[in-house]
Amino acid sequence: MARQRVLTGITPSGTPHLGNYVGAIRPSIASSLDSSKDSFFFLADFHALIKCQDPELVHQSSKEIAATWIAMGLDTDKALFYRQSDIPEIPELTWILNCSAAKGLMNRAHAYKAAVQANEEAGEDPDFGITMGLFSYPVLMAADILMFNASHIPVGRDQIQHVEMARDIAQRFNHNFAEVFTLPEAVVDDNVAVLQGMDGRKMSKSYNNTIPLFQGEKQLRKSINKIKTNLLEPGEPKDPDDSTVFQLWSAFASDDDIASMRREFENGIAWGEAKKQLFELVNAELAGSRERYQQLMDEPHYVEEVLKKGADRAREYSVPLMEKVRAGVGLRPLG
Ligand code: TRP
Repeated sequence: MARQRVLTGITPSGTPHLGNYVGAIRPSIASSLDSSKDSFFFLADFHALIKCQDPELVHQSSKEIAATWIAMGLDTDKALFYRQSDIPEIPELTWILNCSAAKGLMNRAHAYKAAVQANEEAGEDPDFGITMGLFSYPVLMAADILMFNASHIPVGRDQIQHVEMARDIAQRFNHNFAEVFTLPEAVVDDNVAVLQGMDGRKMSKSYNNTIPLFQGEKQLRKSINKIKTNLLEPGEPKDPDDSTVFQLWSAFASDDDIASMRREFENGIAWGEAKKQLFELVNAELAGSRERYQQLMDEPHYVEEVLKKGADRAREYSVPLMEKVRAGVGLRPLG
């Protein structure tokens, strides 16, 4: 069987939280240990510029996210781990793909459509606040993927459409110019939890309900204590399936421990006690890497070096691929 080439990008526009860990970092690192797969993980910092125009935040978040993946044990000698903006072939390919990607395809992108709709509902001009970056974002993402001939793209549900667009763009290029691109496929793992935040909605920076991955023990305990619960008293049975505390528990506990916590809920465990146990469980999983993370944050030169090495390795793929693409579209030496 052909090796799977797995690729995914992480946009550095915030501080890593438990949802990022459970939904992306942990499953990606686990998958990178599978010897039948080659893994490409990168900081999508060009993508960050679309949503985030605060230079300090982009910079800080890049450092935090890179340090997080390393602290969590990603083997950067095996998996390719790099920063998008270190690969000059990516914006080059983006332009070339822009010249054959259909505008009509981009008009249908959910993120763009949602922004237009929000403008219309607010009585604004439909284009209000919409940059070319937001509009053509799926083309940049296609370049990220096609550059490395990735076959499998693990993403959340909201990103499936973008992977399908990348596939469409690849097909069109292969047909019109030269067979250079592998057709990628989105992989959505239904076993990976989409975590709820402290208010019970999806844990997301935009809802301001996240629990940061690496905060001190005290703050972690505080955040967990702030998770919204109902007013049921100790001794009153509680519905685990309607509880953020139980949902978080399930993302960290073994099957046996999930089953016994379910029974405890039915037996009316006090919220305070459930949260205390949740804190201990989460903290036990994070304590070791938290220390390593702090060291890396104090030692950003090391992190930078890891990324630079990753970029050197990534360019062993991107430079030759770009030569094929250039030749394919007619950009080649004159004689
Ligand atoms: N757009 C993705 C997100 O917001 C991040 C991303 C950028 C990505 N380039 C990618 C994911 C390529 C997978 C493949 O989550």
